[in-house]
Amino acid sequence: MNLLPRPNRLEPAAGTLTLTPDTAIAAPPEARAPAELLAGWLRTATGWPVPIRAAGPAAFAFVAHDGPGKGPESYLVDITPTGATMTAPQPAGWFHAAQTIRQLLSPMVEGVSPVPTMEWHPMTWTLPCLALKDHPRFGWRGFLIDSGRHFLPVETVKRVVDALALYKMNRLHWHLTEDQGWRLAIAKYPKLTEVGAWRGPTRYGGFYTREDIQSVVAYATARNVEVVPEIELPGHAQAALAAYPHLGCTGGPYEVATKWGIFEDVYCAGNDQVFEFLEAVLTEVCDLFPGRAIHLGADECPKVRWKACPKCQARIKKEGLKDEHALQTWFVHRIIRFLETKGKRSICWDEILEGGPPPGVIVQAWRANEKAVSKAVAAGHEVIHSPYSHVYLNETQAWCTLEHVWGWDPLVEGDKKDLTPAVLPRPELLIGGEGCLWGEWCPPNRIGWQAFPRLLAVAERLWSKDEGRDWTEFHARALAQADRLSYLGLTPGPEQISGS
Ligand code: ACM
Ligand code: ZN
Repeated sequence: MNLLPRPNRLEPAAGTLTLTPDTAIAAPPEARAPAELLAGWLRTATGWPVPIRAAGPAAFAFVAHDGPGKGPESYLVDITPTGATMTAPQPAGWFHAAQTIRQLLSPMVEGVSPVPTMEWHPMTWTLPCLALKDHPRFGWRGFLIDSGRHFLPVETVKRVVDALALYKMNRLHWHLTEDQGWRLAIAKYPKLTEVGAWRGPTRYGGFYTREDIQSVVAYATARNVEVVPEIELPGHAQAALAAYPHLGCTGGPYEVATKWGIFEDVYCAGNDQVFEFLEAVLTEVCDLFPGRAIHLGADECPKVRWKACPKCQARIKKEGLKDEHALQTWFVHRIIRFLETKGKRSICWDEILEGGPPPGVIVQAWRANEKAVSKAVAAGHEVIHSPYSHVYLNETQAWCTLEHVWGWDPLVEGDKKDLTPAVLPRPELLIGGEGCLWGEWCPPNRIGWQAFPRLLAVAERLWSKDEGRDWTEFHARALAQADRLSYLGLTPGPEQISGS
């Protein structure tokens, strides 16, 4: 059975459940969203009406269970010749149960075939009988996409969200602002997208309207995926400076970057207008994204301009800060406190550890050899693990192979397995991980090719327990996803390009 990620406990049973034109779904009101998803796949595939009812006999039943579960995302699936029961303590579990049923059905439930169909094959729709008990290993299972380097159309973003839900991932980390483009319409600062969303003489780019964002968020919410927007500061902000040059230390002029890299022009930390601007932007961001967390970036911020800027130096003096690293922490902490007033948690890349991490920040550890996870956890911070050594899927598949990613251990930092519960005083602070697909070399039509099949290994690593892991077994399951991903418009790349 090609379930991915591998469930915690799966007992195959004899027989099959055969669907008929009378197939219906029984679901309490709280299970409406996962029931709608399931009905959608079945209707597309079979052409049958597949009604959803509150109760009564039905081939598919969503059942609430309030006994001691294994957390909010746990679920059971029982399939017998008379019906399939999906039991969960909370809606998140029902979503996973529904996705499990989806994976047990033919890829044809995904809709339009990627290749012309020469013949019509009458199909019998069956499910194998089984008993399955499942819950995730980590609560935060994410994937970063980068709309900053290349604008990604809404349809592409939705496809990615659907694939995340299919593989039981629950966070879309959406990188929305960059040196090369500001992608989010902000009512109070229209030049951000009039100027900041376009680069070069041919005005290459694009941006998302409020309605676009609302439509992606609604689509994700209907699939149990939280959208985590990343609004970069204080660095990677050249597109914003091109739109509003007074926000930089030198006053510009600036242009939206047309090359990749790390740029020296960043928000001025000594100018109060920068904070007015960022607070207004983030107020609109909080309004658009209902999730708990907002990512502030805070990586790769050169200090060259701050060192030469009288306003930044005056700020260092006035606040009694040690140096420009401390100024960065002060800057980010001020924004974090603002977001707290809006009820939001902030996430920063691990550079935030350099000036002493502000209280309450969630640290996303990406520099594999910096001991960022241990340092952050020792300081009491929650951590999302994303080592570039293993889960940066923008890296070439020539060395960062599917097997290499599958070999990632979220409890290993650098080269030692040092994040075991015995070593970590509070292992629960390691809340999960994310695969990252930075966009420099990844225009929208390449996303499936670049992300898959390797994102499957990330999904499996963050969901499934270690016990019973087997490369050959995983490999077969992963490659069996190719058809389904192609139906979804995310045709995977080769498993590896060269090498053994
Ligand atoms: C990063 O890759 N700069 C987080
Ligand atoms: Zn300055």
